[in-house]
Amino acid sequence: MSDTGLGFSNKKFIALIVVFACCILLFEFVGDLGGGLIKNQAVDTTSKHNNSRLEDRISPVFTLKKNQQQTSEIVTTKIVPAPLATVMNGEEAYNSACFICHTTGAGGAPFIGVPIAWEARMEQGTETLMKHAIEGYRSDSGIMPAKGGRLDLSDQEVKNAVVYLLQ
Ligand code: HEC
Repeated sequence: MSDTGLGFSNKKFIALIVVFACCILLFEFVGDLGGGLIKNQAVDTTSKHNNSRLEDRISPVFTLKKNQQQTSEIVTTKIVPAPLATVMNGEEAYNSACFICHTTGAGGAPFIGVPIAWEARMEQGTETLMKHAIEGYRSDSGIMPAKGGRLDLSDQEVKNAVVYLLQ
């Protein structure tokens, strides 16, 4: 029996290597098995995600919630959004929507500031005049378009314009 120089016989040395190799293979196998299980799980969750709706799939896995205490310490100013729209007063509404006819008398429109043009109309009452201004009106003199053709005006703005017109 020859010696390896390490105090082992050749046979023992080979046996040792075989055992060692077997150990490595065993570890590999166990490792593969574990890896495979994890892999299967991963595939499972992915397939579940594939079945779900797009929003679910693109939604973040987790989101950071604001720390209320912290923000209240840091944010000291309150942002007040500007109002989206303001109501025009009578003069503004008149100038933007009624001026074109009621200052020139276009199409038979009764003139602003000419009482005689309004006397008969005033007898209907302000409410009716406002209704006619909002919904439109037609008699012998011509056509008063609804809201003066400016349908973007609110009823209140048209009412304001009527008050201005009758002053
Ligand atoms: C395109 C021209 C035109 C515009 C713009 C216009 N009007 Fe007139 N308006 C008329 C005419 C024409 C009459 C007369 C209708 C009639 O009596 O036949 C009239 C009549 C009126 C009357 C009297 C209705 C009645 O019952 O006698 C009021 C009030 C009035 N307009 C308010 C307004 C207001 C307020 C606006 C703006 C929001 C406006 N008008 C814009 C043409 C216009």
